[in-house]
Amino acid sequence: MSEYKFNNIKIEKGQGIGWLILNRPEKRNAMSPELHMECADALDLLADDDDVKVLVLTGSGKAFSAGQDLALYFRANQDNPKTRAKARAASSSWRWHKLVNFPKPTIAAVNGFCFGGAFTQLCACDFAIAANNATFGLSEVNWGIIPGGIVSWNVADVLSYRDALYYAVTGDPFDGRTAEKIRLVNYSVPANKLRSETVKLAKKLMTKSPNAMRYTKEAIRSVRRMNEPEAADYLNAKSVACKATDPIPGRDEGIRQFLDEKSYRPGLGQLDLKKAAARVKSASGQKTSAGKKAAAKKAKKTARKR
Ligand code: ACO
Repeated sequence: MSEYKFNNIKIEKGQGIGWLILNRPEKRNAMSPELHMECADALDLLADDDDVKVLVLTGSGKAFSAGQDLALYFRANQDNPKTRAKARAASSSWRWHKLVNFPKPTIAAVNGFCFGGAFTQLCACDFAIAANNATFGLSEVNWGIIPGGIVSWNVADVLSYRDALYYAVTGDPFDGRTAEKIRLVNYSVPANKLRSETVKLAKKLMTKSPNAMRYTKEAIRSVRRMNEPEAADYLNAKSVACKATDPIPGRDEGIRQFLDEKSYRPGLGQLDLKKAAARVKSASGQKTSAGKKAAAKKAKKTARKR
């Protein structure tokens, strides 16, 4: 449960996870214009919500999402360019831009049918876990269109050329295990383990420095479109930005805990973030009290002069 209320989606929060659940089970979570607009708003709220450390995108009932709503997204708007443009903008805004740029890690938990346009939000998420019995399909060809929006680009990006072409041209459905085999998802699990495995991954992500994780995912995504000199230059600047914006700061503290304290091995595990945060807090407290002392001394001096 959460404080956020929508008509076509549900938000649940707990254990640091924000669950964005497409909630039109009777329509297999097909995406209507209103659903797109709600998802765009929900992502803004969840990005700002300090209780949410990891975002999970999933669906209620039998489907992750059956793609665009053929009645409400396509047919209802076909003679109205203005509403069509508005729906298209909301659709691409949340399924791609807002998800790809989401400041926290994102996991797609594919619980059932995942068709057509739903591949975009699947590919936009940082990680994907499928139920073994989920059904995926690039079904566009089955009704005479191409995988539009940016679906063709998504599958050409994530899958091998052979697999992208095969599934887009045949429209053959495939299950979670095949999705794992062709690397559309990280892994596939029995349906009754989907939630617990998703929580397990989310919890693992929560042990990492949020700043380092955010910069890392942005870096990996961005360098794929760069040549080597561009990537080297970008990564150099990105590393400086990561250090400069880290409230912990993880880099110095990580080196200290390994070299001086010998309390962990970075090759085998994670620095102690709580300890790092406590040190930063006490160091800033010391600075504050040192600052106070200096100010008092100065005030005394000025008073004496008078
Ligand atoms: N758009 C609109 N309505 C849909 C969609 C959709 N994409 N998918 C399902 N629905 C509706 C059905 O019309 C039906 O509504 P009704 O109860 O009012 O008749 C309801 O959801 C249930 O659908 P069924 O077909 O009865 O459910 P079933 O579980 O047997 O099959 C399945 C589910 C396989 C997902 C099937 O509904 C289907 O093939 N849907 C279309 C999938 C598709 O091709 N999506 C790609 C769209 S194109 C794009 O995204 C760019």
